[in-house]
Amino acid sequence: MKLIDIFGALKKDMDFIERQLYTSIEGDDELLSETSLHLLKAGGKRLRPVFVLLGGKFGQYDLEKLQHVAVPLELIHSASLVHDDVIDDAATRRGKPTVKAKWDNRIAMYTGDYIYAKALMIATELKNPEIHRILAKAMVQMSIGEMEQIRDFFNTEQSVRHYLLRIRRKTALLIAISCQLGALAAEAPKEIHSLLYKYGYNVGMAFQIRDDLLDLCGTEKMIGKPPGSDMRQGNITLPVLYALQEDKLRAPLLKEIQGIHAGDGSGEVSRAIEMIVSSDGIARAEQLADRYITKAMDALSGLPEIKPRKHLQEIALFINRRTY
Ligand code: IPE
Ligand code: IPE
Ligand code: MG
Ligand code: MG
Repeated sequence: MKLIDIFGALKKDMDFIERQLYTSIEGDDELLSETSLHLLKAGGKRLRPVFVLLGGKFGQYDLEKLQHVAVPLELIHSASLVHDDVIDDAATRRGKPTVKAKWDNRIAMYTGDYIYAKALMIATELKNPEIHRILAKAMVQMSIGEMEQIRDFFNTEQSVRHYLLRIRRKTALLIAISCQLGALAAEAPKEIHSLLYKYGYNVGMAFQIRDDLLDLCGTEKMIGKPPGSDMRQGNITLPVLYALQEDKLRAPLLKEIQGIHAGDGSGEVSRAIEMIVSSDGIARAEQLADRYITKAMDALSGLPEIKPRKHLQEIALFINRRTY
């Protein structure tokens, strides 16, 4: 099932957000518009704006107002991807060449900065300083998360707790605030946006665990980039950490990962992935993702029983079986 089928009810409003996204990055500089549009037009699930709109349904829903949160959140996400592809040295995203591959790292750096700045400009249309503080705080955390990712490349000694902290920063917090800010901008009561934050945080954790699983078990067609990118880049993810805990696998898997790191042909990504897939690491990571989804559902149960709550449940279920 496509996400869009899940929230057909939002289609008209999401089409509006889509148009606003395109116009948001037009008219300043030809090259910056071209590089920014390149990424936006390549697709993407637009999950964060969907969360904003659904969050807004728990208060006084006003698209005119909510667009100033929904567009910035998708832009912040997009900018982080442009920068992430530099960090991860990624050649493809959403089935298209990355900005860094089609142009270069310098252009990717300023494309990301430009998109971030545009996000902040649009958000200034909203006068509640709390919204700006939450957005800025999440951006700080994402930067820390990505720095940790660089620092932890090929660090096979990191704990599961450390991994979880990193994905909380780089992914889960932005999803959490997408849910929260929709409700906040729509002036829903505090209890409601705290519950939505809790839902978004847990869904976001499951989302990144699933992303990391897809990188190991997905196909290029599914994920829009060659699988095994994390392993190639030294991004040690949850299933890998679990596999390394298995006595029989630890030594050979370490040897393979060290070989990949050395880049002298003594390690093979495909062999490492085979070992991980043969371990309990995949199932254990899936179980942890399930636990986060259960917590997300618990948070939802405290919300009023309106249709958007059902949509949020469906999105959580989609995330837990997603293949793209
Ligand atoms: C990709 O996010 C990066 C992660 C946080 C895992 P999405 O999977 O939401 O990316 P798009 O926007 O749909 O391409
Ligand atoms: C998520 O990390 C990226 C950000 C949150 C910026 P990944 O590196 O796993 O994302 P993909 O796999 O490149 O989409
Ligand atoms: Mg990446
Ligand atoms: Mg990934």
